[in-house]
Amino acid sequence: MNPPKTRGRPGMTSATRREFLKRVGDAGGFAAVFSTMHTLGLVSAPEAHAEEIKLPPHSGKGVKVVILGCGIAGLVSAYELGKAGYSCTVLEARGRPGGRNWTVRGGTKIEFIDGNVQTSEWGVENYLNAGPARLPSIHKTILGYCRELGVPLEVEVNTSRSTLLVTDKAFDGKPIEQRQAINDTRGHVSELLAKCINQHALDQDLSKEDHDRMLEFLRIYGDLKPDYSFQGSARSGAVHIGGAGPVVQELRPPLDMHALLDANFWRNVMFEEMLDMQATMFQPVGGMDRIPHAFAKKLGSVVKYKSPVAEIRKTSAGVRVVYMHGTAKKQIEADYCICALPISILQSIPNDFSPRIQAAIKNTTYMGAYKIGWESKRFWERDFNIYGGISYVMNAPVGVVWYPSARMMSENGVLVAGYSIEGFGPFSELTTVDAKLDASRAAVEKLHPGYGSKLTKPIYVNWGKIPYNLGAWVGPPHPGPNAFMDNSYYEGPYKEFCRPDDRIYFAGDHCSHLGAWQEGAALAALRTVNMIGDRVRTA
Ligand code: ALA
Repeated sequence: MNPPKTRGRPGMTSATRREFLKRVGDAGGFAAVFSTMHTLGLVSAPEAHAEEIKLPPHSGKGVKVVILGCGIAGLVSAYELGKAGYSCTVLEARGRPGGRNWTVRGGTKIEFIDGNVQTSEWGVENYLNAGPARLPSIHKTILGYCRELGVPLEVEVNTSRSTLLVTDKAFDGKPIEQRQAINDTRGHVSELLAKCINQHALDQDLSKEDHDRMLEFLRIYGDLKPDYSFQGSARSGAVHIGGAGPVVQELRPPLDMHALLDANFWRNVMFEEMLDMQATMFQPVGGMDRIPHAFAKKLGSVVKYKSPVAEIRKTSAGVRVVYMHGTAKKQIEADYCICALPISILQSIPNDFSPRIQAAIKNTTYMGAYKIGWESKRFWERDFNIYGGISYVMNAPVGVVWYPSARMMSENGVLVAGYSIEGFGPFSELTTVDAKLDASRAAVEKLHPGYGSKLTKPIYVNWGKIPYNLGAWVGPPHPGPNAFMDNSYYEGPYKEFCRPDDRIYFAGDHCSHLGAWQEGAALAALRTVNMIGDRVRTA
């Protein structure tokens, strides 16, 4: 097992790091927190590497495994063990596979634990991937399963230069295109650096040859004039583009550098540079849940739906799991158990876990996260030339508007207006669903004035209130802008979940260094399956 990553910035204590994250969170919303955590090394984003499966065919003959939870970790476990001849049963509380991999479509019912019920009335082809919604090309394991199971994929457009940024602190509160923010910033920075070089401020760092090569680089990098001034760039868009006959392209004047500094869009424009967020990204055609359904089809009757786990017990020879089926209490005995339930759910299931696991469960906190989707005519495509990607609203309760990559150019689609953490920050302080939906509509109106009213049939998914999840992913011990599991988790509970408790093993994204990613869940499942295989071989 890899040791937990502790790549914190030298000299930064965890307290100053927390304070820094808080300030960034206040300033920039979800993308800001997300990308800052990567910068500080609090979330590791190594290139995912395939965990090699080491189970020879038939090696599991006669060995029974009960798998708790039919999310990606449970499905991968059952699928791989099944290939090796193990006799598996997956217990799933819901009537569908996938766990957080859940696609809301027309007719889907969303029930919260507080009694709130919504039923989507969207058209049959429209959907919201309420949980995972993107597959980075570096996540080779989950992409490998898509290939193996024949799940058709299409490109998920995670970023687009046509998307917008808006803040009340600059540009008279009017949105600007990302292409302007990115390229004008680059132009201004290049001009400044060229000035420093030409004024010999960097002579100690640059040889004569590098001095000239650096200036040449800056001229190209920033699209500078021959005198190294930045006077705008076609990269930033045009007032109107060139056309036929006499119609020449007219450039936009560059954005003012001080206004760009006031706007402070930096975390949002750098979002796409994070390793996990870089193009090319994929999504299954028709919805993310095509992945769990493809696994479930292979598994057939191995999965018992509507069977919530009621007790997890140890026996002298293995495990006994009590579960409900309707009003009937049933039980199953097995040689091994893979517990792929969210830890938030394990917290209330009676069990025989050893004290170290019970303490780890108690000390694991789940973070809430939400998404809001609206059905709408594709005004963003027709009137704003936006095809996929994410726009950002600064210092607002809803800061993210994510455009659909599915069925571009069709009549209507689902716009995600709001995706972030719940339980902390201005969105969470809105106490009613109506207020949250108003904030969502307001974000769209701010980016696309006059269009907020075009949004219809809202759906709000709050993972903290979804039964059998009660959270989105492992978060920090206390509510705050820090969105993901931190060192206190990796140095504590994580180490316990990575080791079996007698014959009970754990799997899920919370057993990986790719938390909140399907890749993490799949890799953790493969690791667990290999551990069971080794044990069976040497038993
Ligand atoms: N993996 C999650 C995302 O893509 C957190 O937003």
